[in-house]
Amino acid sequence: MTKSKSYVCHSCGTSFSKWSGCCDNCGEWNTIFEEVPISTGPSSKSLGNKRGEKISLTNLNTTVEAPQRIVSGLSELDRVFGGGLVPASTTLVGGDPGIGKSTLLLQAAANFAITGMNTLYVSGEEATSQIQMRAQRLKLSDAPVKLVTETNLRDIMTTLDANNPALVIIDSIQTMWADNVESAPGGVSQVRATAHELTTFAKRKGTSIILVGHVTKEGQLAGPRVIEHMVDSVIYFEGERGHHFRILRAVKNRFGPADEIGVFEMTGQGLIEISNPSALFLSERGKPSPGSAVFAGIEGTRPVLVEIQALVAASPLSQPRRTVVGWDTGRLAMVLAVLESRCGIPFTGYDVYLNVAGGLKITEPAADLAVVAALLSAKEDRALPINKVIFGEISLSGALRPAPQTQNRIKEALKLGFTSAIAPTGSKFDMKSEIQMMQTNDLVEFIDSLFIIN
Ligand code: TYD
Ligand code: MG
Repeated sequence: MTKSKSYVCHSCGTSFSKWSGCCDNCGEWNTIFEEVPISTGPSSKSLGNKRGEKISLTNLNTTVEAPQRIVSGLSELDRVFGGGLVPASTTLVGGDPGIGKSTLLLQAAANFAITGMNTLYVSGEEATSQIQMRAQRLKLSDAPVKLVTETNLRDIMTTLDANNPALVIIDSIQTMWADNVESAPGGVSQVRATAHELTTFAKRKGTSIILVGHVTKEGQLAGPRVIEHMVDSVIYFEGERGHHFRILRAVKNRFGPADEIGVFEMTGQGLIEISNPSALFLSERGKPSPGSAVFAGIEGTRPVLVEIQALVAASPLSQPRRTVVGWDTGRLAMVLAVLESRCGIPFTGYDVYLNVAGGLKITEPAADLAVVAALLSAKEDRALPINKVIFGEISLSGALRPAPQTQNRIKEALKLGFTSAIAPTGSKFDMKSEIQMMQTNDLVEFIDSLFIIN
């Protein structure tokens, strides 16, 4: 009896009994390939009762020490790595085209090379002269970085084998192509195949590899998910187009905390580190104005103070606008619904615009109260006291929930000259004499205390 063939889509993994050009499940073209069955060796009959080899088991104990991290000296980058680059690790740096990934990684490559690491920068996007000119602009021409512009993976692997680098930067994974995969560079199967080969090389040779990946329109890397699970760390480089602040954010880190951020400013001389982001995010704040509230947030392990801005305007539309930059639209809808049903403050008939200043994206639920403060201040056209920071989460019942790390938030607020704070009851801190703290677990009470100057 002949066994029927089986086909698998290399993009989404769906199996088919016959080949087709387009995958019915994910809609990708040319991603369906025949799955070659793995040889099962001699049949069990011919082997008699022979069983497989017994594999020895082990436990979780180890005497091997954790590897020393390599510190680049770019402390914002080292922080996002979790305290430096781990040898033999693989990292994916994703971001929109033009956000500054190549600039960041050229600076990182130069820094690592200066510490004595054998560093190789592989570019498949730019010509050698372009990269050399960028290095000149960044005043990094003398850094001992080895540079190559190539997209053919086979040639790159041979070059890596010959040079034995400690760190390789691949800019970008979407431009690389393996000649044994029949699809165009940037496609899912190519990205998966090239990333697999590179990550295997990293583990085999003890090389650290940083892959650059462009984010597609949907906000995922082309060859989405496919490479995110293959690498040890995934870092996104974010920022608003018109802004010069850039935020490096770890979303996955097998060797350190995720959600850690590094803050940079894009200047004419490349990226400059911002070691005190709160001062930067608040620096554009003018005199007290309606619709502005200061949120004492935590990003990763670091407290960050940011200004939340709101605009509430009467709307001629039957379905008023809800526009959010830097926060979650669904969360805004929830906060508006709670304000309406628990506090009797309706926003129907009003357009609501919400913006987190400085291009930061906030994911913490503790921003809820600061958002409420900004919304009410905008709606009532009344400025909040300038010396106040606000944080805390709102539940659907209108009750307030304490936020973690109150102590760190307050410390940062005091450092930046704030003298009073509003937070939910139960928030633990011990600087009671230094800050004027108002604590409540009720949203209505919170709203009543908002405009009190103390
Ligand atoms: P780039 O690193 O090429 O972005 P990516 O690799 O993510 O596509 O950076 C692109 C932008 O950065 C470009 O618009 C110019 C700007 N830039 C500066 O403002 N200053 C600099 O020193 C450099 C090198 C780039
Ligand atoms: Mg680039």
